[in-house]
Amino acid sequence: MPPTESTGIAADPATLIDRLGLKPGHATIVGLQWGDEGKGKVVDMLAAEFDAVARYNGGANAGHTVVVGDQKYALHLMPSGVLYPGRVNVLGNGVVIDPEQLVKEITGLRERGLTIDSSTLFVSNRAHLVLPYHKTQDKLQETAYTMPNALDQSVEGIGTTGRGIGPCYADKALRSTAVRVVDLLDMDTLRHKLHRIVPIKNATLKALAGFTGEPFEPIDPDALLDWLKPLAEVLIPHVADTAGLLHGLTKENKRILFEGANATLLDIDHGTYPYVTSSNCSSLGAHTGTGVPGHRVGNVIGIVKAYQTRVGGGPMPTQLDDEIGDRIREVGHEYGTTTGRPRRCGWIDLVALKYTASVSGATTLCVMLVDVLADLPELKLCTGYKIDGQVVDRFPACSEDLSKIEPVYETLPGFAGPVDQCKTIAELPENAQAYLKFISDYLGVPVVLASVGPKRDQTAVG
Ligand code: IMP
Repeated sequence: MPPTESTGIAADPATLIDRLGLKPGHATIVGLQWGDEGKGKVVDMLAAEFDAVARYNGGANAGHTVVVGDQKYALHLMPSGVLYPGRVNVLGNGVVIDPEQLVKEITGLRERGLTIDSSTLFVSNRAHLVLPYHKTQDKLQETAYTMPNALDQSVEGIGTTGRGIGPCYADKALRSTAVRVVDLLDMDTLRHKLHRIVPIKNATLKALAGFTGEPFEPIDPDALLDWLKPLAEVLIPHVADTAGLLHGLTKENKRILFEGANATLLDIDHGTYPYVTSSNCSSLGAHTGTGVPGHRVGNVIGIVKAYQTRVGGGPMPTQLDDEIGDRIREVGHEYGTTTGRPRRCGWIDLVALKYTASVSGATTLCVMLVDVLADLPELKLCTGYKIDGQVVDRFPACSEDLSKIEPVYETLPGFAGPVDQCKTIAELPENAQAYLKFISDYLGVPVVLASVGPKRDQTAVG
């Protein structure tokens, strides 16, 4: 399918799909670090050549910034395909939907002239709703957990985004206190449901507030319903059986791009537990989170930042608390899209990446923010972990072990900037190419794209 809008790399007649060497069929895009790798830019560029974009996990804790011309779009819930006219955009059953945030994004994009209607945006009827009490519970839970007790004066919290993600997925697992998108279709039944759930929530919140010394205001189920009604009116035209829709598209040989939010090291099962989010954000989640089985997806595009960042709690072996870390943060604008929090920055961690590339089954790599490393005298890459005097290249299951690690580095010479006009990897300075080759060789996965600036046309491919 031809791009409907210039991707800035369309000068080459081959499609981006061809230039990235993708096999026919669907593809998953997944972050391989702790999030904020720049997935949104690659999804946005590829969306031009796919028929549908489907998000499979997470909620408004994610943040994608996409720059198109002089327009900047900060999306939290919307699949990045919304910026291309005529694409099918899906929020799958694995996503947790904050109705207020989704309506805000829909109306915000409409005000900027984009068509968001019932033929371009589909929200799974099986997805779960994040309600205001989830956000209250999220914050109270963090406060409660980090309070001093008889044994510890303080402990590190998960450092959540406060968007209610954990409590919403917890309710999904509990079942009796969950509210799903499908419930918006019948306000009478929803009223009965909220009258059962809200008193339980009030009891939980009251206990947490009492424990932490925070004020407590009970929620009125009817007031909650009144708040939900106008939001439901906007959302109802978009509610669909999205698994059925995606199977139908697959049968018609349409191509689907599965868009992961957050990233593999934040995956609840495979990430740095407990400092993770509450969903399967590795590529494995694409299947449970949309209802499309694994054998349908032959391409997994692993998105890697040229260095490492992390926001929130939890160990990060290559963290730099020095002027290089500060410089990376300033040049890379490493502040959260969702919370504005400064991100911890450090050298790329190939031990962690080897683990996540295998868990997510990356077939192709895109290395983002390469320009941020320009003009540093030397570049370090972590190739081993020293634990108790022994060097290992395994990624530990336990965050306590990860926090004890001393990274072992390989040092390569730096490269001079600017690099933002390079259109192919071969045009990059030799030392930058050597840096990318080192990553590719270590992980055994080809690097097919290097991002050299925030805009679509600041991209070196092939
Ligand atoms: P939660 O997802 O709000 O529960 O946060 C759990 C952890 O995941 C915290 O350390 C967050 O900072 C982190 N996190 C969640 N989503 C993202 C993301 O999109 N980028 C980076 N970190 C994230």
